[in-house]
Amino acid sequence: MAVLAALPAPVLPSAAVAYVHYLSFMVCFGALVLERRLIRADPSREDATLMVITDVVYGIAALALLLSGIARVLHFGQGSAFYTENPLFWVKVGTYVAVGALSLYPTITYILWAIPLRKGELPQVSEALAGRLRWILNIELVGFAAIPFLATLMARGVGLAG
Ligand code: HEM
Repeated sequence: MAVLAALPAPVLPSAAVAYVHYLSFMVCFGALVLERRLIRADPSREDATLMVITDVVYGIAALALLLSGIARVLHFGQGSAFYTENPLFWVKVGTYVAVGALSLYPTITYILWAIPLRKGELPQVSEALAGRLRWILNIELVGFAAIPFLATLMARGVGLAG
């Protein structure tokens, strides 16, 4: 406790927000890996239900990732200009937005699965649909793997003029 008491006041909230940023990133990535592993034509009731739940968890974690990122820019980082003046920051944000836009298609698909599942029926998933979802998940995983690299460069000022 003496160690905590000796810390300057803003350190703990800043560490907590950074932790939420990393944790939500890990949850997003884990959820995408699980969805990628589960997706197949005509899934079982258990797998389809797990997909729907996993996507809800993914959505909540993606929101926490965004909010903790914004909090770091505005309050807990190296000053908002340090980020907004760096093109790499905008590439990072753009990649996040692109991955988010891409995940709308799977998300809407899983929401529609919830309708038959609630009636005790199985969703109709063709091989073509499963293949499309597989590809979208592959691209999302590559995007999510690339963002931390952009983040590590951005945090060290790479990309800033002068
Ligand atoms: C629009 C959404 C996002 C914003 C506004 C944002 C913002 C930030 C900020 C301000 C930092 C602190 C950098 C510093 O220490 O100076 C940071 C660090 C980091 N972010 Fe994000 N972030 C976002 C999304 C993401 C996503 C989607 C990921 C992962 C897929 C991610 C991974 C990281 C990592 C790994 C770091 C640590 C970098 C380091 O300290 O070396 N961020 N982010």
